[in-house]
Amino acid sequence: MNSETDLFAKCQTFKDAKRVQAAGVYPFFRPIEATCGSGVISHGQRRVMIGSNNYLGLTHHPRVIAAAKAAIDHYGTGCTGSRFLNGNLVLHEQLEQELASFLGREACLVFSTGFAANLGSISCLVGRKDVIYCDRENHASIMDSTQLAIGDTIKFRHNDMVDLERLLGSTRQKYQGALIVADGVFSMSGDIFKLPAAVALAKKHQCRLYIDDAHALGVMGPKGQGTESHFNMLGAADLVMGTFSKSFASIGGYAAGSAEVIHYIKHKARSFIFSAAMPPAAAATALECLRIAREDPSRHARLWSNARRMNQELCQMGYNTLDSCTPIIPLVIGNDDTAFQFAQNLYDMSVFATPIVRPAVRECGALIRTSYMATHSDEELEYALNTLHLLGKNFGIIGKRSGQQNPAA
Ligand SMILES: Cc1ncc(COP(=O)(O)O)c(C=O)c1O
Repeated sequence: MNSETDLFAKCQTFKDAKRVQAAGVYPFFRPIEATCGSGVISHGQRRVMIGSNNYLGLTHHPRVIAAAKAAIDHYGTGCTGSRFLNGNLVLHEQLEQELASFLGREACLVFSTGFAANLGSISCLVGRKDVIYCDRENHASIMDSTQLAIGDTIKFRHNDMVDLERLLGSTRQKYQGALIVADGVFSMSGDIFKLPAAVALAKKHQCRLYIDDAHALGVMGPKGQGTESHFNMLGAADLVMGTFSKSFASIGGYAAGSAEVIHYIKHKARSFIFSAAMPPAAAATALECLRIAREDPSRHARLWSNARRMNQELCQMGYNTLDSCTPIIPLVIGNDDTAFQFAQNLYDMSVFATPIVRPAVRECGALIRTSYMATHSDEELEYALNTLHLLGKNFGIIGKRSGQQNPAA
């Protein structure tokens, strides 16, 4: 086969990752040998983890671990089939009921991942004559959902309600149904979707509103109920989805809304019907995390005091954090190569965080995505701050600070 007819030819010419590997600064797929949540052992060395989504630090909570083990003892390790046919556990339904009640919704449907929840829900709701209005910085799973849905997609400028209104004004009348879709908290920049304005626009232009609360569940609002509760608007969106792969220390996703809509998704979403069910230990983990989040507000409080401290200190140092006001705090570095080098130096100094480069961000918008958790100790945060200060200075990104001692060592 020659290179024009060989489907695999692109694999030979794909050199991007190899170039970064050859430079010795490849930051992806770092093997983790052990973890306690806020710290990991990688390449034999303990490092402070400021690059995970374990916001409430529940991955190692004794109650969560016990619940996961009990579920394995009771149900075994896997469901070996779709919930639709042979894998529907009482545990899945318990999780759905408690989560629906926590989110102030009539019903909830649990998927095997958040990615599958977006793919299945959006693609089954949006028909040929319908349209999706999609924020340009929505998560990849939403972008893929818009490709799977048979209706049109119109993208609006990131979190720009003036642009959304302009597009609604010029295009809405061409379509039957319409769905406005956005992340509640944007996964890279950490900013919060302008929900109140979007709710008003949805109402004015007869659209349904869909919020992806992957980074908001357990985090936003006084009780961690999500973006709506942050704005004191619980129930304002027509559908909310989320994932258990972040605050809820597991894997799996959900969509929550009215009983009628959830019933429809349950019987139409192909990523739900034709994919194996969330394993018992994962479902039990998510359920126990939900109960802990409900019963113990101290974790949520500690998460926010850590996030506020980091935000304040990083801004004072002179980092551009894109005005984040959530536990996701991006540090704008500039070009991709500098971000790779910066992340490698961080790693060498025992701090684990990854760079985000094109195409996930714009040209010269490469950043280090940092994120914080309830279980970070003051010493770990101090160490991360000192390291970030030293490197920021060395790379010419910020001003001065001194002193180094790794509490994780
Ligand atoms: C905003 C957002 N939506 C959806 C997902 C997908 O969730 P999951 O990891 O459960 O597939 C993610 C995960 O990174 C996310 O950040």
